[in-house]
Amino acid sequence: ITVLFGLTDFWNMERIMKIAVLGAAGGIGQPLSLLLKMQLPAGSELALYDPAPMTRGVAVDLSHIPTRVKVSGYAGSDPSAALAGADIVLLAAGIARKPGMERSDLFKFNAGIIVDLVQHCARVCPQALVAIITNPVNSMVPIAAEVLRKAGVYDPRRLFGLTSLDVVRAESFALDVESVTNHEVTIPVVGGHSGVTIVPLFSQLSRGQYDADELTSLIARVQGAGTEVVEAKAGAGSATLAMAYAALRFCLSLVRAKLGEANVREYAFVEGGHADAKFFSQPIVLGAEGVAQVLDYQPVHPVEQAAIARMLPVLNKEIQQGIDYARHVLQD
Ligand code: NAI
Repeated sequence: ITVLFGLTDFWNMERIMKIAVLGAAGGIGQPLSLLLKMQLPAGSELALYDPAPMTRGVAVDLSHIPTRVKVSGYAGSDPSAALAGADIVLLAAGIARKPGMERSDLFKFNAGIIVDLVQHCARVCPQALVAIITNPVNSMVPIAAEVLRKAGVYDPRRLFGLTSLDVVRAESFALDVESVTNHEVTIPVVGGHSGVTIVPLFSQLSRGQYDADELTSLIARVQGAGTEVVEAKAGAGSATLAMAYAALRFCLSLVRAKLGEANVREYAFVEGGHADAKFFSQPIVLGAEGVAQVLDYQPVHPVEQAAIARMLPVLNKEIQQGIDYARHVLQD
């Protein structure tokens, strides 16, 4: 009997998935790591990396929660140990907004961090699915793509910009609408993840019948939601808790797809799915290798179509800014 229990334990502990969180000691990293520790499938491994010396303590703290998810923590300047063997990398490293800042103001601080961390990913875990939370997402994802390309390991199916917070917010605001009674509602959010580039498609909410004014104000509400949090936190940071939840949801979708579940649908900022922008956030189907299919997001209301048309130049400028930066730094 002891031998049998021993075997069961061994099987339970066999690693089925390794998730690395970069920026794990931060405002997003900590609650995200907590949620992952609680919700990853038994046998998963969670590796936390952050230059902050407290990171190993965060891992020890989490390891006292009784789930079969093994947690390790790494501080210092080298993320390699956290990345070794990682199947999924969640990248939430870098500074966040303060009141009065746009996401684009973070570019010069966070671009170098992305280059450095993604270079490590390319070397240590080139097959991993990499999801970028760091802002400005519209520029950081193109930078990551260039870094991976330069390293010879770029596969657009495996790189994502995390825009699921916009979807979560849209869902949450839809709950304020009388006709929606459950939280199973899904609202596509397309475009990018900054200001006007965020375009929620409330017209696709099956029970919602919105006129043009209502759609306009719902779009503005989702676009301004991040700034609302930044202002309410009054200099102490930007969205962290709803972001952690959104990233958990996205990560669990990646895990389910990697474990063989079919037809896992998500939204993310990915390359190759749109005629008018190199990267675009839209509905995707996930598979074991990442993006299995990019889905169309039609039909859209004329108000939404106009919002998309208006924001495309902004989105393309932010994408190009990332590409230009990366090519300059990587001397292409
Ligand atoms: P934070 O400042 O609380 O934490 C960032 C963490 O990154 C810190 O612990 C810091 O030590 C760490 N860090 C700095 N350099 C690093 C490096 N080279 N390698 C690894 N870690 C490093 O910031 P917070 O609130 O956690 O936000 C992180 C990022 O996420 C920001 O850029 C923010 O704008 C972005 N964000 C993205 C959202 C989205 O929807 N995609 C929503 C909200 C925030």
